[in-house]
Amino acid sequence: MVQLKGNEKSRFVASMFGRISRRYDLLNTLMTVGMHYIWRRNAAKLAAYDISGDFLDIASGTGDFAFDLLRFSNVNLVVGLDFSPEMLDVAVVKSHDLGFTSKFLPVIGDVHTLPFPDERFSGTTVGFGVRNFSNLQKALAEIVRVTGRGGRVTVLEIVRPRGKFFAIMFLRYFNWFTPKLGRFFARDYEAYRYLPESVQHFMSAKQLASVLESVGLRDIVIRTRGMGSVAIISGVKP
Ligand SMILES: C[S@@+](CC[C@H](N)C(=O)[O-])C[C@H]1O[C@@H](n2cnc3c(N)ncnc32)[C@H](O)[C@@H]1O
Repeated sequence: MVQLKGNEKSRFVASMFGRISRRYDLLNTLMTVGMHYIWRRNAAKLAAYDISGDFLDIASGTGDFAFDLLRFSNVNLVVGLDFSPEMLDVAVVKSHDLGFTSKFLPVIGDVHTLPFPDERFSGTTVGFGVRNFSNLQKALAEIVRVTGRGGRVTVLEIVRPRGKFFAIMFLRYFNWFTPKLGRFFARDYEAYRYLPESVQHFMSAKQLASVLESVGLRDIVIRTRGMGSVAIISGVKP
């Protein structure tokens, strides 16, 4: 399933998130025992550190990363871009509840062809999104293009943990537990089988950091959470 490439992968991912949009937040909380909120806050703190202006949150989904950014007074506005209208619908409802209606702008679009001019944003973020992109290099190049000079790109992602023993145990737990949760709470076994599979085929934090470097980012910072299974990686556009 995760061997899908290009448009086929994009279609699969968009339809999957469309189906699970209303259960996405709950399932995240169950899978991570609520830790996903803390990881996103940590990532938002790094993303907004010392940078003011408008931000772009890519693969914004139900909007939590965007809302965490908006808690910082130096963040004026967050554009939340996602190719799943159903995920963004949930984000819009949440932005009303949180009082962020005037500062959160949802945009339907694909990261591989961002509908923004060069250097439009002071900072850009992607939370749990890069693993799903059909062409990571192209997507990151687009993200760098729309980030202003001196701006920071921050990526939060589940990665292959370091250390073989822990990696195997983590993936076994993830493989076994996640689809069962998905079947029970979201009535979607396939979607939650994709998640552990996509991690299995993804990179380590170090590998992901070198991809960020290869698209021109500098001053790379890597922080890991969740016993090495989650990485917050940022880089500055020189
Ligand atoms: C796991 S969710 C993450 C949502 C949110 N950022 C968070 O922190 O919970 C991944 C999101 O990426 C979006 N996505 C995946 N590939 C995309 C692409 N090529 N362009 C735009 N959005 C994409 C999906 O629709 C989904 O909403």
